[in-house]
Amino acid sequence: MSSNEIPAREASVDARSVLRWAATIWFAAAALGQAAFIYFILAFYGTRTASGRFAAWNDKPLITGYVQDDHAGNAMFAAHVLLAAVVTLAGLAQLVPALRRAAPALHRWTGRTFLVVACFLALGGAWMTIARGSYLSVVSAVAIALDAVLILVFAVLAWRAALARRFDQHRRWAMRAFMVVSGVWFLRVGLMGWVVLNGRPVGMTHRMDGPADIVLVFGSYLIPLAILELYFAAERSARPAPKLAVSVLILASAAYVAVGTLGAIMMMWGPYL
Ligand code: HEM
Repeated sequence: MSSNEIPAREASVDARSVLRWAATIWFAAAALGQAAFIYFILAFYGTRTASGRFAAWNDKPLITGYVQDDHAGNAMFAAHVLLAAVVTLAGLAQLVPALRRAAPALHRWTGRTFLVVACFLALGGAWMTIARGSYLSVVSAVAIALDAVLILVFAVLAWRAALARRFDQHRRWAMRAFMVVSGVWFLRVGLMGWVVLNGRPVGMTHRMDGPADIVLVFGSYLIPLAILELYFAAERSARPAPKLAVSVLILASAAYVAVGTLGAIMMMWGPYL
């Protein structure tokens, strides 16, 4: 039988499973990369904070980090970095369908934890940026502030849809919230992926205001959000072609995530452990 004799419905079913597999491979790459981020946070910040060696946070390059006698700023920094591990783990747990089905009560509690901690990180992060002056350039500050606004908006919409038991809308807002909360992780992976692919930093500055920096600081959440919207559209489409095209895009982005994660482990996290 020639390919154009394959019944349209069969082709559409095959394309649907290709899309599902592409999304699963993307999630596996992201989960490994986020696990490396969590490990770094606990092994670097967790150990120093637990043993009271707060000044040793600055053993790695930071914008502000520990400042002697700045009790409020140091406390916020500690809460922010330690809760970053919690939000990242909770976000991953929310997206595993088997866990959701096996333990719905756990899903509700990790979901509440994820949304509350995400809002705390967005507000605390904005406070450190504006009040503590922890930013490298105005453009990078604006980009992260916009990410904070999107985190707050998407968290509220995901929560409201869950309360109203509109689960289809809840799933979409929760996945959008996952993408914007993961923005800071995507930024690290995006920057290091760019350096690995070019063999050196191209279009980047120490103030994060080079052309590549600007694309990456906004792109760290806008690109994943755009790919997610294409994924939703491909899911809804009855035709196989959009599903296959979006699958290719998702697999390419999984490859970038894998390269960026290796770059972050080699250049950003590993050297300080
Ligand atoms: C919601 C997810 C977030 C996570 C997982 C996260 C994670 C982190 C981590 C791990 C650090 C330590 C710095 C490092 O080792 O690279 C950090 C620092 C920081 N974050 Fe976040 N963050 C999040 C959201 C935000 C937001 C929305 C903002 C701003 C609006 C923000 C602003 C900051 C600032 C200002 C610092 C301190 C930088 C310094 O003093 O060097 N964060 N964050």
